[in-house]
Amino acid sequence: MGHTVICVDRDEKRLEPLRRGESPIHEAHLPELLRRHAGRSVTFSDSISAAVRASEVIFIAVGTPPAVGGESDLSQVEAVSREIAESIDAYRVIVEKSTVPVHTSGWIDRVIAMNGARRELYDVVSNPEFLREGTAVRDFLFPDRIVVGADSQRAAAVMQEIYGPLTGGKYGASPESIPAPAHWQGKAPLVLTSTKSAELIKHASNAFLAMKISFINAVANLCEASGADVEQVKRGIGADSRIGQRFLNPGIGYGGSCFPKDLQSFRHVARECGYEFSLLDEVIRINDEQRKRFVQKVRKALWTLKGKRIAVLGLAFKGGTDDIRESPAIEICRELLAGGCTLQAYDPAATERARDVFHGNAHVTFAPDAYSACEGGDALLALTDWAEFAELDLDRIKAVLRYPIVLDGRNIFSPQTMEAKGFTYYGIGRATALPASDVPPESTARRRSTS
Ligand code: UDX
Repeated sequence: MGHTVICVDRDEKRLEPLRRGESPIHEAHLPELLRRHAGRSVTFSDSISAAVRASEVIFIAVGTPPAVGGESDLSQVEAVSREIAESIDAYRVIVEKSTVPVHTSGWIDRVIAMNGARRELYDVVSNPEFLREGTAVRDFLFPDRIVVGADSQRAAAVMQEIYGPLTGGKYGASPESIPAPAHWQGKAPLVLTSTKSAELIKHASNAFLAMKISFINAVANLCEASGADVEQVKRGIGADSRIGQRFLNPGIGYGGSCFPKDLQSFRHVARECGYEFSLLDEVIRINDEQRKRFVQKVRKALWTLKGKRIAVLGLAFKGGTDDIRESPAIEICRELLAGGCTLQAYDPAATERARDVFHGNAHVTFAPDAYSACEGGDALLALTDWAEFAELDLDRIKAVLRYPIVLDGRNIFSPQTMEAKGFTYYGIGRATALPASDVPPESTARRRSTS
């Protein structure tokens, strides 16, 4: 965008690879941007004071992990605010970028003042981030909106200038820009609000998206009970422009480093403000139940779990990332291991991180590709929506599995195709495909309707 950026972290081990232009996470476009800018317009430092003195604007982007009661642990925000305060020697805009509860900017302001910074030398603004893992760079540079919560005109003007290349369209029009998404309108709108409103927008946006996911999962369960097909229902409701198709994919529930934590935190914030936001309890409950229902489905399909060899495709919390934090796939693996299964897992990016989680567990092996994971499996479970899983050679999968049973936790495969290929197939919220030879006793499973 044309700015000069100094990234500060106190952990030298993180800084070293970044200085060499190496991306520490699996994130599209980050390697090419680091190669292009590291050491030039982006530098890396372990000195907060030097960075604060050299900058006009300071973004706080530290972690806000959940504390025991579900509230956010803001101790890193406090610590970094204190250090920033000690180095403010001219007007600075302090930007709260971490996901934080309402009132946090007020606390940052207070900490900075109490640690010696003169009030006229700084403003604190809230500028929440809506980027998703895996598409973070694109989400940042081509956002649906930029939210700036500022209680001072001077700070608001600085923020508008920073985002000028995105709101004016200059960045997207430049030959240097990364490719824009198909729906890009040319310019990003900037929503200017109070700091408190901006803080609430972040939590409320994530809670709303999580609610959409839990809603469609509840509808999927109703579809299973009634004989409807959730993918058709989804198309029908999502076609209403007031609802939209996005974030209506049913499955084994949401995970990741944001939704689970942010919902708990938002719930806690509401309670602190004297409001019981019990709708959020139900969103969380449906999400938890979704994983349990899936394990139940596996149990029903296989009769007993003990000693079963299961092929697991996908460990990341969603496709396109190596992140396994709060991954529904990992939770399901844990349940299956507790039930006595042996797992052969494959993930295109998250294997290394998953190795740490199951370290020393002789019942988990990691396969180099999807076909090896299926070798001799009593069933195949698809747990992450990696696009490449939809491209797998199903005949080859069938040939290497011991039994052609597929439980699809992300509706990656089509029941029609699976039935035609001779699989016993269970998706989410749609009828099961059962070859005539494989109808489990006492099964409540419905054969897929071909009409
Ligand atoms: C989310 C928000 O989307 C983003 O705006 C915020 O800044 C950070 O949190 P992220 O955690 O990267 O981003 O993942 P996201 O793509 O939102 O998916 C979250 C979870 O919901 C994943 O486990 C995903 O598999 C699941 N999901 C998503 C569904 O189950 N169905 C859907 O339709 C969409």
